[in-house]
Parts: sequence; structure tokens; C-alpha cells
Amino acid sequence: MDKKTILCIGAGYVGGPTMAMIAAKCPDYKVTVADINAQRIAGWNSDRLPIYEPGLTQLVEKSRGKNLFFTTEVEKGIKESHIIFVSVNTPTKTFGSGAGKAADLQFWEKSARLIAEQSEEDKIVVEKSTLPVRAAEAIHRILQSNTKGLKFSVLSNPEFLAEGTAVADLENPDRVLIGSMISPEGHEALEELVDIYAHWVPRERIITTNVWSSEMSKLVSNAMLAQRISSINSISALCEKTGADIAEVSHAVGLDKRVGSRFLRAGVGFGGSCFKKDILNLVYLCETFNLHEVADYWEQVVLMNEYQERRFAERIVKNMFNTISGKRIAVFGFAFKADTGDTRESPAIYISRLLLNERADLAIYDPKALDNAKIDLGDVTAGIEYCSDPYEAVRGAHAIALITDWKEFAEYDYDRIFSLMEKPAFIFDGRNVLDHDRLFKTGFNVFPLGKAEMTHFE
Ligand code: NAD
Ligand code: UGA
Repeated sequence: MDKKTILCIGAGYVGGPTMAMIAAKCPDYKVTVADINAQRIAGWNSDRLPIYEPGLTQLVEKSRGKNLFFTTEVEKGIKESHIIFVSVNTPTKTFGSGAGKAADLQFWEKSARLIAEQSEEDKIVVEKSTLPVRAAEAIHRILQSNTKGLKFSVLSNPEFLAEGTAVADLENPDRVLIGSMISPEGHEALEELVDIYAHWVPRERIITTNVWSSEMSKLVSNAMLAQRISSINSISALCEKTGADIAEVSHAVGLDKRVGSRFLRAGVGFGGSCFKKDILNLVYLCETFNLHEVADYWEQVVLMNEYQERRFAERIVKNMFNTISGKRIAVFGFAFKADTGDTRESPAIYISRLLLNERADLAIYDPKALDNAKIDLGDVTAGIEYCSDPYEAVRGAHAIALITDWKEFAEYDYDRIFSLMEKPAFIFDGRNVLDHDRLFKTGFNVFPLGKAEMTHFE
């Protein structure tokens, strides 16, 4: 078999963009991406990709049909490929032992069993999904239990891309991490994967470790990033009480090179499919080893995030005279961050539900995430209007709740918006992306996050 054949099982937010980048940078490899979700595969084969990501369409079009293929034929893909990435979803378990914290590995295990069953030659299997520490060992056991005498090498190669900047992150990663088993076959497999990334990533940024360090590093990277957000968000609550300004504090603290300025933007809380899941995964791992103090320490990052989401909704109610019942509130942004249509674990879901619980009427606008918002709030039968135009959303609204940091929100005509709204008009800027002085002068009562409020009341 041609060794330059790659299959990726799972054509999601990671599998699709990652394989498109490998195909573009390694024209000497044939890259196939397979998924059981036929609709998703049809999307990847069309002009309307199943996920929104800046620059992704051009990247896919560069190689699709040449050395990049999307298919539902997983079995065939396994047979025809030497290197198999597995990038299926690993959500938090919702049942049985470890429910609510541990990772649900059923999709991974199914993939591993299928690889063992369908393979006719030795293969390299690459963990691309985020998995608990020591998962590679379990996967290796499943693969090696094949009765055909085949040998499988398992590598851990976690992905660090962030949504919204996936293409840039893949093109120019801070590092590529590859963990391998300590054996001659493990080393050989490692070299094959290093060769692929070395097509475009400087060699010194491709780091290699043992497989468990690699699995652990992925969980810890996400936990550390989320911890910074929860830390600054906790201080935003204190700023609102004391008159300190969270943007000034964050700037001053971040200028210390030992701290660094990134991931210190206070907001409505972190969302996304991974931070919460991966921290809970880490917490579960600690609990498994009776490290309860360590587990509690990391769980607090998630609890602080829930507090921040709740605090934002409660601030709205409190400042709108303790009732929002029957009041229209324009929700600006539903995606968990800008430049994506993804709403998984978006703070917007929780905050919207809290506002609906207070019987507000929501007018939700998002440039890319309205379809997902409709699914997330699909069980809500009344009290929501989904608007495809922000000016429509604010018509007759008492307040704007800004949840996502879309750049366009700062570019709107707020004089016009003010004229369309009920008075007194409120703006709760959950991301501090608007010009607060200007809004105040226009007549709004402005509630930035982690800063003093600006109201026209006596
Ligand atoms: P996703 O849900 O978007 O995609 C997973 C895909 O796997 C789905 O399309 C699903 O249909 C497919 N799948 C599931 N079981 C399958 C099977 N047996 N055979 C074939 N296809 C199957 O998930 P994602 O966001 O791409 O995340 C995948 C993994 O990568 C997760 O472990 C996640 O933690 C990790 N990760 C995600 C990101 C991110 O930004 N989303 C970043 C880094 C790491
Ligand atoms: C994150 C990590 O940044 C990636 O390295 C990792 O690969 C990925 O998780 C993953 O494993 O899934 P992502 O969730 O796509 O990427 O996006 P981030 O940019 O990390 O933002 C996550 C959340 O934190 C968003 O809701 C964002 O608005 C929020 N955030 C981020 C803040 O509130 N403040 C900040 O300063 C930064």
C-alpha cells in the first residue's frame, strides 16, 4: 500500500479544516475524510461547507477532488489508508459511571473496533480527538486484539486550533505536539507523522513526548486558558463594586511579560464545545486518583464561569427595575465567540434561558449562528423572535444584551438604533466592544462589564 495515504474519521470542526490544511500542504499525500453523517459529507462536497470558518472555503477548494476527498465510506477509507486520524466527538458522558464529568468514548471505541475489523495491513492510528490520559493504551489494546496478527501504532496528536481562526492556527501553529509509545514501532510511526507536519511547520515547533504527556498537555492547555478567563471574570465582579475598570486592570496586569496579555478579556463567560468538557475530564481524572483538592481547584474554573453567565443575566433584571416581564430584549450574538456559527456551550444559551424564565421577549440576532440558535432553543415555544436584521431586533426593544464579540456590532448606527427603541433604553455590553461614552451621549443607559455603569437616572 502507498504509505502516503491518510484517512480521517470524523469530518467536524477539527477533522475538516485539519485535513484540508494537510492536503493543501502535502500534495504528495492522498487525504480522505470520512463521516457517518451523510448530510455533513454532502456539505463538505458542496459550495456551502457545513461549518463557517474564515478562509476555509478557499482552502478546501484548493485540494478537493485532487488529493482531498470527503466520503461516507468509512470502511473503504480504512482499507485504503496507511495513516488513520480519528477526530470523532468526545462529549461529556451523560449516563452511568462518571456522568457529567468523564468523557464519553463510545464513538472513539467504535472507530477503533472498525479499524481493527477492516484493516488488512499494519497501520498508524492517530488520536486527534481530545481524550483522557491513558486513552491511547486502551485504544492500542482494542486494536491489538485483532485476530489477523496486524500491528497498530497509536500516536497522540492533539489539536490546538481555535474556532474562528482555525485556518490561520493550522497554517502557523505555536506548536505541533506528537506523543508516541516507547517502542521501535512507536518511534517509526512518530517519524512518519513528523514528516507530514514538516512539510510546512518549522521542525523546532514540532515537539515530541511520550503519549501520556501529550494527552495530558491537551487537557492542561485548555484548563489553563479557561482558568485565565475565569480569573479575570472573577475580578470583573469586584470591579463593578469598587469602581475599578476591568479593561484597565487587565491591560496593566497583562503587560507583565510573566503574565502576558492574551486571554485576559473579561466577558459573559467562556463557551465552546471543549473548555468545560476538558476541565471536567481533568477533574474526573483527579477524582479517580483520589486527588480531591486538585479536582476542586480545577472545578472552580467551571463554577466561576457559570457564576459569570448568571451574573450577567441578573444584572439585566436588577437594573431594569427588577422586572423584564413582557419587555423585548434584543440579543446581539448567539455564537460562543466571533467568526463562527458554532453555539456549542455558548453563554447565550444559558443567559437566554434565564431571561426567558423572567418572561422577557427575546429578539435574537447573529450573523452566522441563527440556525444553531433555533436548534438550541428548539424546545421554547413562545417569547423568541429570530431576526435576520439587527435593526429589526431592536425595534421596540427596552434593552440590548450583547453576548458575542462580533466586530460588526461596533459598526452599527446607534443613533438609529436608539430612535427605534423604547425609553429608557439600556445596553448591557457583555464583551466591552462598544463605544460606551458615545452610547451614553446618545441617550443609552450603558452597562459595560466590569466597569462602572453610565446611567441618566438621578
Ligand atoms: P464534531 O462533533 O464537529 O465532529 C465529530 C464528527 O465525528 C461528527 O461529524 C460525527 O458525525 C463524526 N463521527 C462520530 N462517530 C463517528 C464514527 N463512528 N464514524 C465516523 N464518523 C463519526 O467535533 P469536533 O469539534 O470536530 O471535535 C472533535 C474532537 O476534537 C473532540 O475530541 C474535541 O474535543 C477535539 N477538539 C475540538 C476543537 C474545536 O475547536 N472544535 C479543537 C481542538 C480539539
Ligand atoms: C479553545 C482553545 O483556544 C484552543 O486552543 C483549543 O484547541 C480549543 O479550545 C479546543 O480544544 O476546542 P475555542 O474554544 O475554539 O478554542 O475558542 P477560544 O478562542 O479559546 O474561546 C473560547 C471561549 O473563551 C469563547 O467563548 C471566548 O469568547 C472566550 N474568551 C476567550 C473570553 O471570554 N476571554 C478571552 O480573553 C478569550
